[in-house]
Amino acid sequence: MDHAALAARAAAVRHNAYAPYSGFAVGAALLCADGEIFTGVNVENSSYGLTVCAERNALFAAVGAGRREFAALAVYAAPIGADEGPDYTRPCGACLQAFSEFCAPDMPVIRLRSETEFTVTPFGELFPYGFTLSEKE
Ligand code: THU
Repeated sequence: MDHAALAARAAAVRHNAYAPYSGFAVGAALLCADGEIFTGVNVENSSYGLTVCAERNALFAAVGAGRREFAALAVYAAPIGADEGPDYTRPCGACLQAFSEFCAPDMPVIRLRSETEFTVTPFGELFPYGFTLSEKE
């Protein structure tokens, strides 16, 4: 699958975000090594700290379905109703730490700023020094 097609999946699912408190809708699409795609959106809560980001919802759905190898992630964050975000989306540190459990430094992260504009950044460039319990090879 090409980057534009995965980006389109993140942009499409973003409309399902539940974000009445921040007004910020985020969509993520995670391509697995076997070609399957899992999507996620941010789901907020009136107890704000319970909010879960789009990227982690996609990751946890994939892992729950038995996937542990990933080929690419696309993510798009923008205000509800807007047709572009403030910048090319940068996944938050908590999500990057969660992804670091599974993803190689060269995994492409497709970062959208609108439905049609994106840039591609290797995972390891976004998150070079994640927490680990033991030294990684
Ligand atoms: N959010 C994500 O879904 N992903 C991120 O990487 C950062 C932030 C969500 C959480 C909250 O619902 C809204 O964006 C504003 O912080």
